[in-house]
Amino acid sequence: MQTGVPAETPVGEIPVAAAPETAKKTLLIGVPKETAPGEKRVATVPDVVEKLVKLGFAVSVESGAGDGANLDDDAYRASGASIAATAAELWGQSDIVFKVRPPSPQEVELMREGGTLIGFVWPAQNPELMQQLAAKKATVLAIDALPRTLSRAQKMDALTSQAGVAGYRAVIEAANAFGRFFSGQITAAGKVPPAKVFIAGAGVAGLAAIGTAASLGAIVRANDTRAEVADQVVSLGGEFVKVDYEEEGSGGGGYAKVMSEGFQQAQREMYAKQAREVDIIITTALIPGKPAPRLITAEMVRSMKPGSVIVDMAAEQGGNCELTEPGQAVVKHGVTIVGYTDLVSRLARQSSTLYSTNLFRLSEELCKTKDGVINVNMEDDAIRGLTVVKDGAITWPAPPLKAAAVPAAKPAVAPAAKKGHGHGAPSEPMAANKLAIMFGIAAALFWFVGANAPTAFLGHFTVFVLACFVGYMVVWNVTPALHTPLMSVTNAISSIIAIGALVQIAPPLPGGAGIDPWIRWLAVGGIVLTAVNMFGGFAVSQRMLAMFRK
Ligand code: NAI
Repeated sequence: MQTGVPAETPVGEIPVAAAPETAKKTLLIGVPKETAPGEKRVATVPDVVEKLVKLGFAVSVESGAGDGANLDDDAYRASGASIAATAAELWGQSDIVFKVRPPSPQEVELMREGGTLIGFVWPAQNPELMQQLAAKKATVLAIDALPRTLSRAQKMDALTSQAGVAGYRAVIEAANAFGRFFSGQITAAGKVPPAKVFIAGAGVAGLAAIGTAASLGAIVRANDTRAEVADQVVSLGGEFVKVDYEEEGSGGGGYAKVMSEGFQQAQREMYAKQAREVDIIITTALIPGKPAPRLITAEMVRSMKPGSVIVDMAAEQGGNCELTEPGQAVVKHGVTIVGYTDLVSRLARQSSTLYSTNLFRLSEELCKTKDGVINVNMEDDAIRGLTVVKDGAITWPAPPLKAAAVPAAKPAVAPAAKKGHGHGAPSEPMAANKLAIMFGIAAALFWFVGANAPTAFLGHFTVFVLACFVGYMVVWNVTPALHTPLMSVTNAISSIIAIGALVQIAPPLPGGAGIDPWIRWLAVGGIVLTAVNMFGGFAVSQRMLAMFRK
C-alpha cells in the first residue's frame, strides 16, 4: 500500500508538500497520546523518531504524548518530530498512526480514511472495532497478531517485550509489599533467611520474573504445564517443580492447553504444598482465549505465612488466585494479593522504549526501500499474520503459517503425497506419477553419465551423489528452528575450500614448473576470505550454543 501526503495537507514543518508531483510522497507517522485510563506508555520514543526519520518518514507527535514516560515535547522536537497540538490534528494529518492500546471509537472517528494503524488491536476481543476500522477503509497491523513462532519476527514481538517488563515489575511489586530482604544475610544483628519465591507459569513474563527474583538473591521455584520450559527455568537460576502426573501440556505454537482433571488435582496438591512453604507467589499462567486457570485457592492463601505476597499477573483474565481483585492490592488472611493490571505501564519509559523499537523493526520490514513509503506485502508470512484489515477488507484471522518454526504434529498423509513437500500437489495419483517420471529421468541421466564419463570422473561423481544424499537426509530431519545454528556450522565447514587454495600456493614439486603469480595471489585471497567464513561461522555457532548453556 502506498499512500501519499496530499499537497494541501497541513503537515507542519514537514517539507514533503513541496516535492514534485511525480515523486513518491513521504508518509507521515503520527503518535497520539494514549487515552485509555492509567496508560502511561507512548508508541514512539525520541530515539526511535530519529531512526524513523532516517527511514524516510516524517513523524508527528501529539503534545504531551510522552509525559507519562517522562519524555517531553522538546525531546521529540530535538529528535526531528513535529508536535501536533490536539488529537484531532494529529489523527487528521497522519498517514500511519502508531498506537499502544486499541483505538477508542472516538479515535477511529478522527482517523483519516484509507489510513494505516499499527498497534495492539486484539481482533478476537474487538469485533466492533474491526468493523469500524474496515468502514474507514483502513489498513490495520495488529502487533498482537504477529506469528510469534517465526524466528524472523522476534525483533517485532511486542507481546514478548511487554511481558518481560511486566514479569520484572511483578517482582519489584512483590519486593515492595514484602517486609524482608530477598537475599539471605548473616549480620551481627542476626541471620536472615533468603526469601522463597514460587512462580506459576514460565512463559515470557514468568521467565523474566524468575531471572529478576533470582538476581535479587531469592530461592526461586517455578512450575509450568509445558515440560519443555524446565531447562529455561533452571538456566535462569530457578528450580523446576514437576507435577506428579504424566501429561504433555503443550497446545502448539508455544502456548499451553487446558489440562485433564487428573492433572489439575495433582497440580493443586503440589501448589498447596508450595503455598505453605514459600513467602512469595507470582502467578502468570495463561491459556490463550480461555479464562486464566484457577491455581491458588482461598484455602492455599489461608495456609501461607503472614506477611506473604501474591502477585497475580493474570488478574485481567480472571486471575490465577481465587481472592484476587483486578487492579487492586488487597490484604486477605494476612497475605498481600497484588492484582495490578498495569504492570507494564508502571515502567512506562522502559516498556515504551522496547515497544517503539518493535514498531521500528516492523517499519523497516514495511519500508525496505528506506524512502518513507510502506509496502504491506501479504506474501510475507510475518506481515500477513499482522495485517488484520487491508484497505477496508477484514483479513483476520490469517491462514496458518506455511512452515512453522515449531515442529507441528505430523499430518497423516499417504507416503506418495508426503514426497510432494506440500507444494500444492493436487492429488495423490498425480504426485505419484510425477515422482515416477522424475525417477525415470534421473535413472536415464545416471546411465548416460556411467556409460560415457571417464573412470576418474565416476569416482568423484559417486562421492558427490552420496554427499548430496547424506546432506539432504541430515538437514531435512533438523527442526526448522535450529536451521540458523546449523547454517553457521555448515558455513564454517564449507571453508574446506581453504585446502584447495593451500594446494595452489604450495611450492612446486622438484622439477615442476613455477606457479603463475596470479594463481598464487588468487589462492591467498581465497584463504583470507574462507578464513573469515570459517572463524566467523564457528564464532556465531559458539555464541548461539552459549545461549542454551546453563
Ligand atoms: P505466556 O502465554 O507466554 O505464558 C503463560 C504461561 O502459563 C505458559 O508458559 C503456559 O504454559 C503457562 N500455563 C498455562 N496454564 C498453566 C497451568 N495450569 N499451570 C502452570 N502453568 C500454566 O504469557 P505471558 O506473556 O508470559 O503472560 C503471562 C500473564 O501475564 C498473562 O496472563 C498476561 O496477560 C499477563 N500480563 C499481565 C500484565 C499486567 O500488567 N498484569 C502485563 C503483561 C502480561
